[in-house]
Amino acid sequence: NKPLYILAIETSCDETAVAIVENGTTIRANVVSSQIEVHQRFGGVVPELASRKHVESITWIIEEALEQSGLEPHDLSAIAVTQGPGLIGALLVGVVAAKALAYAWELPLIAVHHIAGHIYANQLVHKLQYPLISLVVSGGHTELVYIEAEGVFRIIGQTRDDAAGEAYDKIARALKLPYPGGPYIDRLAQEEGAALPLPRAWLEPDSYDFSFSGLKSAVLSALNQANMKGQPLVPQVVAKGFQDSVVEVLVEKALRAVKAYGAKQLLLAGGVAANQGLRQQLAARCAAANVPLLAPPLSLCTDNAAMIAAAAFLKLQRGQFSSLDFKAEPLLKL
Ligand code: KG4
Ligand code: ZN
Repeated sequence: NKPLYILAIETSCDETAVAIVENGTTIRANVVSSQIEVHQRFGGVVPELASRKHVESITWIIEEALEQSGLEPHDLSAIAVTQGPGLIGALLVGVVAAKALAYAWELPLIAVHHIAGHIYANQLVHKLQYPLISLVVSGGHTELVYIEAEGVFRIIGQTRDDAAGEAYDKIARALKLPYPGGPYIDRLAQEEGAALPLPRAWLEPDSYDFSFSGLKSAVLSALNQANMKGQPLVPQVVAKGFQDSVVEVLVEKALRAVKAYGAKQLLLAGGVAANQGLRQQLAARCAAANVPLLAPPLSLCTDNAAMIAAAAFLKLQRGQFSSLDFKAEPLLKL
């Protein structure tokens, strides 16, 4: 049996990424070129700059991935690419590149949902058992997804305003930390010290939805009031209070969903899955409730193309290919 190799491309936001994965699980190449320096001085991703940077980088990153893998184009079985959601100009670069490769190398094309990619990043390192619940927390998404069987997704709860990562980045900005601020807040929150008391957004008792904008406003107004009194808050205290509030709600709702849906596993996914506070709390609560908790290694939590290849492999096995005229979809539904 010849191994199946998928070359996958991910350009939905500010990472240009290409990976080659063998049989859906073995990473043969995983190149991620971050544009952080390009956007850092603007305090967030500038869509036009992101697209231009993707155009500049995509060709050499494809070449680099092929070289890392030691494979030739004729060894590949398919080309996969993120179809959406994401920034339209950024997505288009990946989609056009993938179509060009599929056409030139006469390979099937597989369009992948970015969130399915984050979820199936777990497949690169773990064996999944259905039904399961996935907590997807990233810069653009905060969702609880019930996955009854492979590829069968149902969003049971989602954010009504900011995504968790977005809230992290906004608070970090208010604390004058570099972009993206999630990891900086996480580090501060791990330090010894007090926590600013902040509200928890539980919403309706039976809701699996999230909301982070009220928390964000509470932090910003506490910062302003303290500044006006001439007694600025210590960043560590703010970071710890903020992280405690976010993590408590995420963990509580995720565990409630696991129980209500009889899930066999809880899967953590997305950039905020790299958060140490979240990982520790989830690990403790899952251990106590006897629920297996799966999370990708840190390098596979944030945007990468190996996760896109992992999700594409499942579609390849089912013969779910895309035609050369499929379109990038900035608001694609899971
Ligand atoms: O999944 P991702 O790379 O991109 C999106 O699809 O959005 O997630 C990026 C987000 C950023 O908001 C970043 O601040 C956040 O993940 N993030 C973290 C941590 N590492 C990355 N947030 C909290 N704690 C972290 N350790
Ligand atoms: Zn992402």
